Amino acid sequence: MPIPESFLEELNSRTDIVDLVSSYVALTKKGNKYWGLCPFHSEKTASFSVSPDRQMYYCFGCHKGGGAINFVMELEGLGFVDAVDVLAKRAGLQMPETTPGDSSTRKKRERMLSLNKEAARWFHANLSLPEARDGVTYFRNRALSPRTITRFGLGYALEGWDNLIRAMAEKGFEKAELLEAGLAVKNSNGRIYDRFRHRVMFPIIDVRGNVIGFGGRVLDDSVPKYLNSPDTLVFNKSRNLFALNMAKKTSLGRIILTEGYMDTIALHQAGFDCAVASLGTSLTEDHVKLLSNYTSEVVISYDGDQAGIKAAQRAISLLSKTGMKVRVLKMKNAKDPDEFIKKFGPAAFADLLEESDNDVEYRLNQVKSKYDLTADDQRISYLKEAAAVVARLDSPVEREVYSTRVAELAGLSSAAMQEEVKRLRSKSRWKQRKVEERRALSPAQASQPEDRSLRYDNVPSAKAEEGVIRLLLLDEDFYEPAQSLKPEEFSSPTWGKIFSLLMEHWKQGTPCTGASLAAYLTPEEMSLLARIREVPESVGQGRQAMADYIHAIQRQRTADNDEALMKFRYSKKSNGGT
Ligand code: CTP
Ligand code: MN
Repeated sequence: MPIPESFLEELNSRTDIVDLVSSYVALTKKGNKYWGLCPFHSEKTASFSVSPDRQMYYCFGCHKGGGAINFVMELEGLGFVDAVDVLAKRAGLQMPETTPGDSSTRKKRERMLSLNKEAARWFHANLSLPEARDGVTYFRNRALSPRTITRFGLGYALEGWDNLIRAMAEKGFEKAELLEAGLAVKNSNGRIYDRFRHRVMFPIIDVRGNVIGFGGRVLDDSVPKYLNSPDTLVFNKSRNLFALNMAKKTSLGRIILTEGYMDTIALHQAGFDCAVASLGTSLTEDHVKLLSNYTSEVVISYDGDQAGIKAAQRAISLLSKTGMKVRVLKMKNAKDPDEFIKKFGPAAFADLLEESDNDVEYRLNQVKSKYDLTADDQRISYLKEAAAVVARLDSPVEREVYSTRVAELAGLSSAAMQEEVKRLRSKSRWKQRKVEERRALSPAQASQPEDRSLRYDNVPSAKAEEGVIRLLLLDEDFYEPAQSLKPEEFSSPTWGKIFSLLMEHWKQGTPCTGASLAAYLTPEEMSLLARIREVPESVGQGRQAMADYIHAIQRQRTADNDEALMKFRYSKKSNGGT
């Protein structure tokens, strides 16, 4: 583990979660808890609770939960170490040096960030110089208001070879540092000069407000049109999105994903403060993860050309894996959002947003465009391929709606289409059957964790496992009797893992609290932990409850073994019969 546990303990004890959460959410005390509107999903009545006793939060609406570190991770979209860093600064603690050389990397990063910030300021300040007239004119021609230019911190890199190098030297930065930050380049003769010259500049700012890199655009049609910072110690294209620092605060309830800087800026200027752009790369899994921290709905608004369509299809399949709602904007009579807004205005764009296809329709349209529906054989191929898209939909209503739609377009009966969908579904049925059988057996679907990857295989056992963990976190007295359980006896890997973590800590004389498990668990696991702690459990009857839970777990385990044994015997017999 990179950060020493003693440090995390110290950090947790110096951080009061009620205090921390209060700086983001208005809380009211009711009983032994504080309540407020959940910052992770939109709601009108408070279902978000913070418990000062446990130092944990839990939302009864969206089921997110955890300790202080999780809260910062979730709300600011940060990784574990970065979240710890934020809390350490807040508590006035010095981050520990975890590995040798680590602190020098940290210093280097900080230094590079301050260089970037100075450079951004300088590019921006240039705009008021007479030499920057071309840059100012360029922005004006693209209809950017002075306010937009300020909000995005846009700027201009002067003509000449070393203006930035000299300006930064005055601030105490060396050429080597500019090289490393990607602000300068070295030619084969060893000469070092400014990377960005005579270009309008777009600073790239991460969700924490750091300037991590730049894009620079030429003022005419020369190439390359854009020049971007290379990946550096602080900049990674495939993990950052342009303008997410602003879009993360949107109240529009979704994020619009565009391809270009100018598209995103034009959208913000028109009031769509939820636009972001990938930085001249195709969307990655890291981008998707990042987006899912801030929104549950993404509207893809890429260019209408062939490349844009391909990129959109790629983006759809990445985004829909996460369960986010994904839609694709159908741009008419304009090549990109920037041009659309200019031609037709913000209201027309808002209409477009409302009518934008959901991803099913988009996929079906893609399929349709491949075939000539006036030819009989092609109509049939179309129907077959479209049926494959429809068959994958979970909702019967949706299947019905889209089946009818597809059939209409193909001029075939809707019954034929539904028949085809049914056939495809029953083909893939056997795979799902086992899963469904298990679910039908479980007492209530509601007892399953929200996160699919944590689903219980054995609900009765998992419920008892929850109880064991709940008791352990309630009172240290329960560790003693819990010793008769082994982590391998747990049916849920998560509870097994948490159980062994708790037992280990207890045996070493340093029992740990729920919140401090953040170092070992995924955010989804922490949420689950926060959720099970909401179930009432009394210390008074705890000993008996613990005994019951242990018994239930061990009984389920024997039952599992019996079942496995039966299967084994059965398969042996049938093999033997041949
Ligand atoms: N891009 C890049 N390098 C290029 C061209 C494009 O990095 N040589 C990236 C930029 O991030 C750009 C995005 O790809 O914003 C989309 O390209 P394009 O559609 O050409 O850019 P626009 O933002 O529409 O540029 P403009 O309207 O200024 O022509
Ligand atoms: Mn454009």
